[in-house]
Amino acid sequence: MVQTPEIGPPLGSKRASFASWVVTILLAVQVLPLHAAGAVEQIFAHKHLGPATCASSVCHGANQRGASSEILLNEFSVWQQTDPHARSYATLGSADSKRIATKLGLGDPRSAAVCLDCHTDAPPEAMRGDKFLITDGVGCEACHGGSEQWISTHTEAGRDRAKTLAEGLYPTDQPVARAKLCLSCHMGTRDRMITHRIMGAGHPRLSFELDTFTWLNPHYEIDEDYVRRKGEFNGARDWAIGQGISAVNLLDILTDERKGWNGIFPELVLFDCHACHRPMSGRQWGPRPGTGLGPGVVRLNDANLVMFRHVLSVVDPRAGEDLMAGTRALHQATLVSRERTFAAANALKNKVEGQLDKVAAYEFGPETLGKVLDSLIRDADRGEFRDFAGAEQAALAAQSVVVAFETARQLGDADAAGLRAGVDRLYASVEKEDAYNMANFVSALKSLRASAR
Ligand code: HEC
Ligand code: HEC
Ligand code: HEC
Ligand code: HEC
Repeated sequence: MVQTPEIGPPLGSKRASFASWVVTILLAVQVLPLHAAGAVEQIFAHKHLGPATCASSVCHGANQRGASSEILLNEFSVWQQTDPHARSYATLGSADSKRIATKLGLGDPRSAAVCLDCHTDAPPEAMRGDKFLITDGVGCEACHGGSEQWISTHTEAGRDRAKTLAEGLYPTDQPVARAKLCLSCHMGTRDRMITHRIMGAGHPRLSFELDTFTWLNPHYEIDEDYVRRKGEFNGARDWAIGQGISAVNLLDILTDERKGWNGIFPELVLFDCHACHRPMSGRQWGPRPGTGLGPGVVRLNDANLVMFRHVLSVVDPRAGEDLMAGTRALHQATLVSRERTFAAANALKNKVEGQLDKVAAYEFGPETLGKVLDSLIRDADRGEFRDFAGAEQAALAAQSVVVAFETARQLGDADAAGLRAGVDRLYASVEKEDAYNMANFVSALKSLRASAR
């Protein structure tokens, strides 16, 4: 099932007058254009009051989950105790962080803007309230938006959620908006860049998949009332949207003259790490039809574009073929000139963006799993998974789609156990990036397909 946009009647009220519906829809259209850029701008549009403001025991600071309320009420404790976001400022004080910052000549990473950008909630000084502390790390408002305007109104019984959104609550429940938000730190965007220089200083490689990451440390639960309030939730759809938005983000940075380029080179972080970082004794090169590139060429990291093609193999196979042609054209353009690369990237970005509404509205049913796996196997058979980055995203895709249908109870217990074991094997085949072996990966992929019959 597919989640409908949040334009339903107000919380707890089934009766909404026609006028209030019109207002709701107008607000929703105004505040939530599906592909509006600038998650970071939206997050920083209003003053941030700090997590302490949310933490009272009658608000989100209960020790245990509330018995009778719709939301859990212990969000603050969950965040503080189990969510790495609460420790992300402390990370900047670690020996690893100091080493990274020293190599970059940055001094103390706890006061380096480039680190604070992603490891804390860092609105401009003027947008920080009295209780705001940078040391709180990635706090509530880093994801839910500055609360100055909605802090006192969002708890009113029967309040129209669209109004709260208009006051700056960020629509984290909507996959397009959520993807943009998470990727602003987990991939880097024009606003918050991670560069190859930061990687070169020892920062871990960033890897993200929207559905998997949404469920790693949750302070929310999808239950009946959640679906009633916010619409159906579908992990396969979130995986699909996450791939599309990641692909758009890559193309967006690549075509930015300032962020996408560094001296005479393009920003290397946008390229496949293992195209350069592999032993010379390997003699591992082989053709990848999806790129059409010959040996000895630096390749763009197209893992998300490839995965979005697998999404389209379910939603609209012809659009999938078109995307493959566009991706190949982009790879080819990188051999010619910057101008040709920009033109190919912009054309491809339009193609991906043009599919997002269709993907968001698609009903990903249990047959999705077999279709996605078949599409991955067709790629595997023609050698597309030579590169680790693509294989890693394929493993995340398989896991996400399996778990989505398990959660929706669309798989029997025995099937689910078999598929889980298959996903574990697939994961094992991409666990060590430096020891990645395509043959092992492909055989794990095929055995997973066999258990999905
Ligand atoms: C303001 C930047 C920022 C935003 C926005 C953000 N994250 Fe993070 N996230 C981080 C940082 C930094 C870390 C690493 C924290 C640490 O270990 O110090 C992290 C860690 C995580 C982890 C743990 C990863 C692991 O390897 O265990 C998950 C899961 C995660 N984020 C999910 C999300 C999701 C889902 C979203 C969007 C709803 C999101 N994040 C939005 C900065 C951000
Ligand atoms: C574009 C956003 C971004 C920027 C800029 C950034 N980081 Fe990170 N950093 C992350 C995310 C996201 C993670 C978590 C990766 C994961 O686990 O998936 C992370 C992880 C780390 C880790 C590993 C944490 C752990 O628990 O293992 C260290 C150390 C670190 N960052 C230090 C720094 C330092 C120092 C800087 C500044 C030079 C910096 N980061 C800049 C986003 C960023
Ligand atoms: C890394 C991003 C991130 C951070 C930090 C974060 N949240 Fe969330 N929050 C989410 C996401 C994603 C959801 C699930 C989607 C939704 O329903 O909006 C969510 C949902 C919620 C919900 C709604 C649950 C429901 O059933 O409707 C509440 C309440 C909430 N968060 C409160 C908090 C509080 C309080 C904090 C700080 C202590 C916090 N969040 C920190 C991302 C975040
Ligand atoms: C175009 C080739 C190229 C690509 C693509 C590339 N790198 Fe590099 N990388 C280099 C070069 C050149 C150096 C510098 C080596 C030196 O200074 O001796 C380097 C250095 C590094 C180092 C430091 C190694 C050391 O010995 O200290 C790390 C870590 C690193 N890169 C990670 C990455 C990651 C992660 C990616 C993918 C996101 C990536 N690289 C993509 C060429 C590349």
